[in-house]
Amino acid sequence: MAKKLYIKSYGCQMNVYDSERMADILAPVGYAPAASPEDADLVILNTCHIREKAAEKVYSDLGRLRLIKEERISADAAAEPMILAVAGCVAQAEGEEIVNRAPFVDMVFGPQTYHRLPEMVARAHRATGTVLDTDFPAESKFDHLPDAKAKGRFSAFLTVQEGCDKFCSFCVVPYTRGAEFSRPTGQVLDEARQLAEGGVREITLLGQNVNNYHGAAAAGEWSLGRLIAELADIDGLERIRYTTSYPADVDEELIAAHRDVPALMPYLHLPVQSGADTVLKAMNRRHGADDYRRLVETLRRARPDLALSSDFIVGFPGETDKDFQETMDLVAEIGFVGAYSFKYSPRPGTPAAALPGQVDEAVKKRRLAELQDLLNAQQRTFNDACVGSVLPVLLDGRGRHPGQLIGRSPFMQAVHVSAPDALIGEIAELSIDGAHPNSLAATLAPAAGSEERVVA
Ligand code: SAH
Ligand code: F3S
Repeated sequence: MAKKLYIKSYGCQMNVYDSERMADILAPVGYAPAASPEDADLVILNTCHIREKAAEKVYSDLGRLRLIKEERISADAAAEPMILAVAGCVAQAEGEEIVNRAPFVDMVFGPQTYHRLPEMVARAHRATGTVLDTDFPAESKFDHLPDAKAKGRFSAFLTVQEGCDKFCSFCVVPYTRGAEFSRPTGQVLDEARQLAEGGVREITLLGQNVNNYHGAAAAGEWSLGRLIAELADIDGLERIRYTTSYPADVDEELIAAHRDVPALMPYLHLPVQSGADTVLKAMNRRHGADDYRRLVETLRRARPDLALSSDFIVGFPGETDKDFQETMDLVAEIGFVGAYSFKYSPRPGTPAAALPGQVDEAVKKRRLAELQDLLNAQQRTFNDACVGSVLPVLLDGRGRHPGQLIGRSPFMQAVHVSAPDALIGEIAELSIDGAHPNSLAATLAPAAGSEERVVA
């Protein structure tokens, strides 16, 4: 009988991509998607370890799942027990601790082991204890996992690079995802072609440090800039994005791609973290505030309509009011169209957790609120400035209201429009006539009902 699988993803887009690969490799051994954990024979939590809150959420979810698992056994003692699994970065970082804290968990395995999943599930069926696999195997999981499929989507993620060797002093990623690795160019191009053949119009290339991509090609290695230029030639692929980038690794070829490849969207997530050089140095970032300013200037020269978003950490150990003001100044100067900002969260095993000068929670809270006010205002200003313009929007699904479609502008804004379902999957020219804090409202341009306005 077919078994049911439920996967919950926490954290970053790479986890979303990984969760799908896990579902894909389990499909041939009989697992079909379940609508809820209650219906599932196998539940996988694909976890995030980046901040304390994300990690703690996993333990509270596990508490609830334990009850579901026990209820199933008490309802029918003869039924096959539910298998409960913890994957992702919490599994990698806290493998043993999970086994001790939550012994009812059947499988704990890290991000580089997903290709071994069918074998691990078989072992979990036989085992009485927890199956634990937090290796960094010599073989690449990508050589063994099925490629991403379009599955009716018009926008898809594609992991091209994984892991990080930068060791920012606050960050767990180098420990949980392991050393930097780039997938060979042939593998990436094949996966992208399959996605495009399946109807995908937009691909977001993923990597923890994606712009340090250096994939093995038939001759030598390709940088991310070169890869983007080649991907742009794939039939049907209209839009390319990439995330997340490390400022010090933006090279000439990538800047050239922003200048020369129209399919590369004019939106870039380029985390700066702080505007104060002393803080950046303590963070072990390899850029100062002025390096970032100069880089943005260069990128904007290459692509004048480039919109920027960023990540910020406030309350890093030793951050003074003056340091924080420098972050505010940098934000005011650059102008971001979106951002993620966080209170510094000390992570066990990272150098910054042991630094003196840990900042008070109340101070972190105040700084975060001040920064977010400014960032929200900038986002609103940008959205307002779009009103009156015509933007090409990839319409990828239905909105909440009847007759409404929803899509993404080149600048990643969500756009709502009243339009026929036939336009789903198309890139349509839309007149932007309303702005909200997190989205835009639009009408079909130039005149409702005409076919010519559909660009794609
Ligand atoms: N290049 C990475 C970014 C890592 S995590 C990637 O996209 O995979 C995303 C963001 O979380 C970071 O840019 C940083 O702003 C934030 N972050 C990471 N560690 C943190 C910590 N210990 N406390 C608070 N925020 C953190
Ligand atoms: Fe983390 Fe810095 Fe790498 S934020 S993912 S160590 S670039």
